[in-house]
Amino acid sequence: MVLTSLLQSQNLDAIVVSTLVQIRYYTGFEGSNALLLATPKGNVLFTDPRYTTQAEQESNCPVTIAQGPLFKALATRLKSLKAKRIGFEDKKISYTLYRELTELGELIPLGDSIEKPRWVKTPQEISAIRASVELNSKALDLAMKRFKIGMKEMDLAAEIDHQMRKLGAEGNAFDTIVASGPHSALPHAHPRNERIEAGSYLLIDMGACLNGYMSDMTRTFGVGSVPRKAIRIYKAVLEAQLAAIDAVRPGKLAGQIHAAAVRVLKAHGLDQFFVHSTGHGLGLEIHEAPRLGKKETTPLETGMAITIEPGVYEAGFGGVRIEDTVLVTEKGVEVLTKTQKGWTIVG
Ligand code: GLY
Ligand code: MN
Ligand code: MN
Repeated sequence: MVLTSLLQSQNLDAIVVSTLVQIRYYTGFEGSNALLLATPKGNVLFTDPRYTTQAEQESNCPVTIAQGPLFKALATRLKSLKAKRIGFEDKKISYTLYRELTELGELIPLGDSIEKPRWVKTPQEISAIRASVELNSKALDLAMKRFKIGMKEMDLAAEIDHQMRKLGAEGNAFDTIVASGPHSALPHAHPRNERIEAGSYLLIDMGACLNGYMSDMTRTFGVGSVPRKAIRIYKAVLEAQLAAIDAVRPGKLAGQIHAAAVRVLKAHGLDQFFVHSTGHGLGLEIHEAPRLGKKETTPLETGMAITIEPGVYEAGFGGVRIEDTVLVTEKGVEVLTKTQKGWTIVG
């Protein structure tokens, strides 16, 4: 267990885990209010009376139901243990909790070490991500069956969300993006109360949350007949995406995957329109390490689930992004997203 080895290797008396996603990862508890205390004697989960039954069902460690602020209950326990060196999540902790903890002992920042185990997925996590990705693709297929030129961006987004829910998702991994025409040039556009007209792009970026695990996919379509330039840009982005996927294998540095995408876009004279990183890890959160950005030096490892999502965004014209969720495997890469991605006209 990672927390046990962290306690030992850093010579800690206790670790306080305060981010819910980390608590879920280490204990299984999915509630919205919790603190986790790890000590050499074992772990204790603190939550409030709303979660008495749920915590008993989900948590893999003993639970304390606090009558009042969780921190008070945790502090009482820490004091009774006479803990001196206390590890904490320096990258994520709230200032209030930090100040409260400083009164209890010497605080030891744990940096990435507490989050790192999540970068490489277990076989169970990979199955969960696979299922989330499949559901996401099905939801797009079903929603697009109802697409018609003239439909509003908001209505298509609602249709996508509806299909996801009907397929069993507990929610969205993030707010669904449906952007058409020049609006697609905003990488994180919000769906508008505007009609999707012929003659330009339709960009859809969507992700499901299934059993806690995220998926993430972007597809860009042509709506009706579009200028040749739109097709040319689309093909360049697809070439960049395929080159980046092809570069994925264990040992490659995250930045090298980004460089593979940039190289292709540069050859097409489009690299100045690529304004974000090539991808990111995902799992219990939609954006996790590693970040596939310029000069990022994290080596890829077998079992990492990442997105590959280059894009080109030309203000006033439109944007293309093509995004798959992929798995780093011993042999190289497996593309989990099966939705087709050749140039497709809809409507
Ligand atoms: N929709 C968020 C992302 O693609 O990273
Ligand atoms: Mn993404
Ligand atoms: Mn996305």
